[in-house]
Amino acid sequence: MNKTDKIYVAGHKGLVGSAIVRNLESKGYTNIVKRTHKELDLTNQAAVYDFFEKEKPDVVVLAAAKVGGINANNTTPAEFAYENMQIQCNVINAAHVNKVKKLLFLGSTCIYPKMAPQPIPEDALLTGPLEVTNEAYAIAKISGLEMCKFYKRQYGDDFISCMPTNLYGPHDNYDLAGSHVMPAMIRKFHDAKVNGAKSVELWGTGSPLREFLYVDDMADACVFLLENYSGEQHVNIGTGKEVTIKELAETVKKTVGYEGEIVWNSAMPDGTPRKLTDVTKLHNLGWTHKVELEEGVKLAYDWFRDNVDTARL
Ligand SMILES: NC(=O)c1ccc[n+]([C@@H]2O[C@H](COP(=O)([O-])OP(=O)(O)OC[C@H]3O[C@@H](n4cnc5c(N)ncnc54)[C@H](OP(=O)(O)O)[C@@H]3O)[C@@H](O)[C@H]2O)c1
Repeated sequence: MNKTDKIYVAGHKGLVGSAIVRNLESKGYTNIVKRTHKELDLTNQAAVYDFFEKEKPDVVVLAAAKVGGINANNTTPAEFAYENMQIQCNVINAAHVNKVKKLLFLGSTCIYPKMAPQPIPEDALLTGPLEVTNEAYAIAKISGLEMCKFYKRQYGDDFISCMPTNLYGPHDNYDLAGSHVMPAMIRKFHDAKVNGAKSVELWGTGSPLREFLYVDDMADACVFLLENYSGEQHVNIGTGKEVTIKELAETVKKTVGYEGEIVWNSAMPDGTPRKLTDVTKLHNLGWTHKVELEEGVKLAYDWFRDNVDTARL
């Protein structure tokens, strides 16, 4: 990748896309193309082809997707399947037709089989049944990963994909109807502290094990892969370290400075019992994470507190 290459970051306003733009800029990439969802709806095939033909990007990072937590995934599966498949088909094929030199597709570790071996190696994909609460999202994302593979096989396109673990950081979605566990906790503890609430209700039992990666670390890994990787198989991106949801809640509570109680609502679903990525491949390629959980939670909370008026609530 050259520093003057025209790089289209799809979804630049989101958690992942905004971090990738920050990382590219910090490394001296100067020609970054952005379009908001309003300016370019990636489910609109004609608009996507028109955009690619006019802009002719050299590199594409596909960080635009319909994303959400357990509740949103569980209650609107048709939307998750349709919008994600549509976005992927449009962008991947338009990139091929317009001779894009490199494309990075973003999967997610939640699309591995529910009972995948732990830590999860890359070759666990498509080896067993999926977690039912996010099946539609997973089916769509798996088809995106496979499409990149097929375009590489048939046309020799340098389309690669990665599989990031749970991410958090600036520009996350703090709307409790659709947010992931970390931003939901930050928002709930912050609101409870501001309102003087005696307790905070969290979903599930608190027992599942999860891995969390600060989004700027993930963006650094993505740019590292764009610069150094052209393999057919996707690459896991994570820390290789895990905590229980209860431990995470205590860390967030302490960081926010909330002193009330935590009440666990075990009537709400827990999701997959354990989810840890095997990051051997990424480490062997030469990349490891830098930001540990406590530091990352502090960075994420500082951003949320400073941007609460404009954050996605
Ligand atoms: N968050 C995580 O923990 C995580 C973990 C692993 C992988 N990933 C992957 O990273 C990618 C980005 O996720 P994220 O967390 O950054 O999500 P996000 O914060 O919700 O950002 C997604 C972006 O895509 C845009 N978008 C959605 N539908 C679009 C459409 N039809 N046309 C144009 N833009 C559209 C959104 O715009 P609006 O907000 O205006 O709709 C938003 O800016 C996804 O592929 C996801 O699978 C995320």
